[in-house]
Amino acid sequence: MDRIRIVGGQRLNGTIPISGAKNAALPLIIAALLSEETLILDNVPRLADVIQLQRILGNQGVDIMIAGKRPGDDPNSGRTLHISAKRIVDTTAPYELVSKMRASFWVIAPLLGRMGEAKVSLPGGCAIGTRPVDLLIMALEALGAEIEIEAGYVLARAKNGLRGGEIKFPKVTVGGTHTALMAAALARGTTVIENAAREPEIGDVADCLNKMGAKITGAGTSRIVIEGVTRLHGARHTVLPDRIETGTYALAAAMTGGDVLLANARPELLQAALDVLVQAGVTVTSTNEGIRIARNGSGLSPVEVTTAPFPGFPTDLQAQLMALMTRAKGTSHITETIFENRFMHVQELARLGARIQLSGETATIEGVARLKGAPVMATDLRASVSLVIAALAAEGETMVNRVYHLDRGFERLEEKLSQCGAAIERLST
Ligand code: UD1
Repeated sequence: MDRIRIVGGQRLNGTIPISGAKNAALPLIIAALLSEETLILDNVPRLADVIQLQRILGNQGVDIMIAGKRPGDDPNSGRTLHISAKRIVDTTAPYELVSKMRASFWVIAPLLGRMGEAKVSLPGGCAIGTRPVDLLIMALEALGAEIEIEAGYVLARAKNGLRGGEIKFPKVTVGGTHTALMAAALARGTTVIENAAREPEIGDVADCLNKMGAKITGAGTSRIVIEGVTRLHGARHTVLPDRIETGTYALAAAMTGGDVLLANARPELLQAALDVLVQAGVTVTSTNEGIRIARNGSGLSPVEVTTAPFPGFPTDLQAQLMALMTRAKGTSHITETIFENRFMHVQELARLGARIQLSGETATIEGVARLKGAPVMATDLRASVSLVIAALAAEGETMVNRVYHLDRGFERLEEKLSQCGAAIERLST
């Protein structure tokens, strides 16, 4: 199993190219199931989760062609995938595949919309508290699906096709909104989604679906209206930049000090996180090329942050912010409202010398003057990278074990950081 070795204390200086967003690429690839024609996706990140999803779609008879590199191609741009779901041969998504990644459950929507049936295993994914699918099922039922749960599988049927309906989410759910959008695209009549998630990845998927011939308005707001169409056609779409990767490297640069350009990053995708960095005393500048993050000499100020659905501070940056605040001059509070139990990084950060107290949903972080390297264990995707951030500023060596979690969501992490001066390497065993 691979490990990552970091020797802390180097400032980050240089340019980090930001990849396409994992959380957009996954639903975009799934959206290809909605059409018999080819969907071409550009800027797809090279990630374990993307490869895993390709396996699931392969099972259903989908052909995926990955374009090779051509002379003159930008080495930092992502891959181009040609996805063709001409004939769906299997409407099952088995446990062995779905249990590894929660988002793969979302195939249920296009399978149901196009084929009238789907059998999808209940999901797995990051171990961050209970992550039910009741709201996704509620949305499908509102569009006329009949659902049964049997032996760990969700069996969904819509013999005469789905019909438009009203979906009112009692709480904001990204997966629920993606599912509702994809199911409604091919339903008969109009669907209205109330209290929809406003995450930029929802807007990206809606843009792509509209290029495929869907009729979606209001994506990016909490009320989305979808006029169902009878079929969708092929299209070409570029995956938007990853706001969580952007925020992660911004927090890393804030941690070590230095001056880093996050190339291709778009500030409007993570304004809440950039505002927190400014409060912490970091200089944030938007440029034509991306976002510049600089901290030279000045200490870090503590912050008070509560995670919230977009446009609030993202739960997917909570662990990384906590790593940064371990070195602030004073006491910070971070409250997690999206996922219970999303504090597995706390114990591991403590191994590096962090002082963090948990009380319910709130972590109290007392900044310390120094962290010290130690062996630590990656637990989930975002928690793992928080350990990398802490290690970059810790004295001596930190060994991060179980890094497969990092590979699920961060493309070439050690390469991107070492290019900016970090002492970081992957050890394969
Ligand atoms: C997506 C993101 C994930 C991010 C999360 C919140 C992807 C691939 N993953 O996950 O990185 O952390 O949004 O921004 O895009 N819930 C229910 N019932 C349901 C569905 C959700 O109670 O049927 C709850 C969840 O337990 C959680 C909250 O709703 O408390 C939000 O979850 P949701 O937005 O659905 O997260 P995901 O789509 O799984």
